Amino acid sequence: MLFNTHCATCHGRTGDLGMNGAKDLVTSTIPRDEAIAVITSGRAGMMAYGTMLSKKEIAAVTDHVLTLRTKSAR
Ligand code: HEC
Repeated sequence: MLFNTHCATCHGRTGDLGMNGAKDLVTSTIPRDEAIAVITSGRAGMMAYGTMLSKKEIAAVTDHVLTLRTKSAR
């Protein structure tokens, strides 16, 4: 799965690892389009995935990131 391969090193599989200054994705509140922008273009300590992943893959990984939030809200 894309998230576990590319993102979990910093964010952790549950999104709240916070390695290398990574934002906690469980408590993150930015809207979906902003999350896509961060993932595509990078921001501060996070690299850009726009050249590594297709638009479709970025959309899929973003949907996964949003499910990490829902779990914590339950
Ligand atoms: C090298 C470590 C690292 C990896 C790998 C990484 N990130 Fe990040 N991520 C960060 C850091 C650091 C930030 C905070 C950037 C800042 O302070 O502006 C961040 C921020 C984010 C944010 C913004 C959250 C918010 O509320 O502002 C999202 C969404 C995100 N990452 C998703 C992902 C996804 C999806 C992947 C995999 C495709 C990924 N990250 C891979 C380090 C990483």
